[in-house]
Amino acid sequence: MLSDEIRRLAEERRAVILAHNYCRGEVQDVADFTGDSLELARKATEVEADVIVFCGVYFMAETAKILNPSKTVLIPDPTAGCPMADMVTAEQLRELKARHPGAKAVCYVNSTAEVKAECDICVTSGNAERVMALFPPEQEIIFVPDQHLGGHIAGMLGRSYVLWPGYCPTHAAITANAIAEARRLHPGAPVLVHPECARDVREAADERLSTGGMCRYARESSAPEIVVGTEVGILHRLRKENPGKLIHPVNERLVCPNMKKNTLENLRDSLVEMKTEVVVPEETSARAKRAIDAMLAVP
Ligand code: 13P
Ligand code: SF4
Repeated sequence: MLSDEIRRLAEERRAVILAHNYCRGEVQDVADFTGDSLELARKATEVEADVIVFCGVYFMAETAKILNPSKTVLIPDPTAGCPMADMVTAEQLRELKARHPGAKAVCYVNSTAEVKAECDICVTSGNAERVMALFPPEQEIIFVPDQHLGGHIAGMLGRSYVLWPGYCPTHAAITANAIAEARRLHPGAPVLVHPECARDVREAADERLSTGGMCRYARESSAPEIVVGTEVGILHRLRKENPGKLIHPVNERLVCPNMKKNTLENLRDSLVEMKTEVVVPEETSARAKRAIDAMLAVP
């Protein structure tokens, strides 16, 4: 079986396989560790293996490489990008910073290494509120690229940020009407959405959580049915970990095509051919690492 071959190759290569919660079920099942962006970044700092094979999108593999400059980090398909991460460039961020001298620049981890290199700190949806609460209220903040996560945290903390108009095309497809329809179909079931959703969707939901937060919620909740508004790859893990509970997607068609580019076939090929290696120029890597380390230092 392909998954046996992958496990054998991983052992031979002294490789650890990390997979995001949105990956195909069979990729999650063969991985050593599955998690959200924050959990995967933390895991990448603990890895003893010589090689990390990262099944996710490019910025996640890049973050693992920045945290482990001396290790080999492979991504099975290097074209697995995140459209939101590409919505702001380092040049655009530098121009914005020039218009707001004195502002601190914060990026969502869904950003390029070049953008992280321009930032004081980065956040994930799993720690954004904790990290952003550390800034004094009078501090001006630039937040890129996700207007929705930025708007969500600003609202929670009663602050106002200079927001970049980036968004996730997958989460943009979730509507408040779809949430209302899910409530009609599954009365009483708590509705969890990702903070990348638009404001009216976030307001229509019961909880706004990272994918790791959704996994924890489902484990700890006594609710027999749960509705989730995020990429459908997470259903595999939620159903596997909660066999007695009914987990419903808000919409079956919420697919991130880039996450689906990770397959058992290209994962096997990546271990056989040791490809495709993630490379980050040294100077960019060192500057981006400061922003990631600052985030990871927040408990
Ligand atoms: P999480 O950090 O919640 O896993 O989110 C990553 C992501 O890309 C959501 O679209
Ligand atoms: Fe990027 Fe959206 Fe895909 Fe997450 S779901 S990786 S934010 S495109």
